[in-house]
Amino acid sequence: MSNKIIIAIDGFSSCGKSTLAKALAVKLEYVFIDTGAMYRAIALYFLRNKISFKEAAEILKALDNIKLHFEYNAHTLKSDMFLNGENVELLIREMQVSSKVSEVAAIAAVRDFAVAQQQAMGQQKGIVMDGRDIGTVVFPNAELKIFVTADPVIRANRRFLELQATDPSITMEAVAENLTHRDHIDSTREHSPLRQAPDALVLDNSHISKEEQFDIALNWAKERIASH
Ligand code: DC
Repeated sequence: MSNKIIIAIDGFSSCGKSTLAKALAVKLEYVFIDTGAMYRAIALYFLRNKISFKEAAEILKALDNIKLHFEYNAHTLKSDMFLNGENVELLIREMQVSSKVSEVAAIAAVRDFAVAQQQAMGQQKGIVMDGRDIGTVVFPNAELKIFVTADPVIRANRRFLELQATDPSITMEAVAENLTHRDHIDSTREHSPLRQAPDALVLDNSHISKEEQFDIALNWAKERIASH
C-alpha cells in the first residue's frame, strides 16, 4: 500500500461519517481530518466574540484572527481541534455550537477560509477527510468518494444516545429538531451545499453494523489503492 490516495467521505449530520473515517485512517495509517470540527471551531469563535453572521467586514476581520490546527490525541486515535492554541475539541460538540454551526458554515468567506486549509492538508495524499463538500468541492479528484446515508430516525436516535452520555438533560425532540434543521441548511445553502458527487459510492448504514460498514469501505479503499 505505497500509493497513497485521498478518501473523501460526505453525508448528512450524524450518520457515522466520522466513525468510519477514523477507522479507515487508523487501518490505512492515513491522517483523518474532521472538517466539521473546523466549522464548529469557527462558530465557537463567532459566538464567543458576538460576530454578526451578516456583516461581511466583521466576518473577514474575525477570520483573520482565527488560527486553527489539529493535534493528534493518542487516547482517541484522532486529532483534537485547536482554536488559537486552545483545545476546543469538547466545547465544539456542545448544543450551543451545534445549533449555530450550519449558519456559520453557510457563509462563503468562512467556506473559502476552511477549504483552502483543507486542500493544503491533502497535498501529500494519505488522508481521509469527512464533511459535506469534500468529494464535490475540496477534492473533486479524490480517488475514492463515499457518500454515507442513514434513516433520519436512526440517526437522531444514535446522536441522542451519544449526547445523553455527557448531557442527561438532553431530549430526543431537541436532537431530532437540530438534525433536521442542520440537514436543511446544509443541503439548501447557496455555497457548496451538501450533494452526492456523481462518482461517489453510496453507503447506507441504517441496518448494518459499524464493522460491516467498515469492511465495505475498506474493500473499496483497497481496490482504489491497488488500481491507483
Ligand atoms: O460534521 P459536523 O456535524 O461536525 O459538521 C458541523 C457543521 O459544519 C454542519 O452544519 C455541516 C458543516 N460542514 C460543512 O458545511 N462542510 C463540511 N465540509 C463539514 C461540515
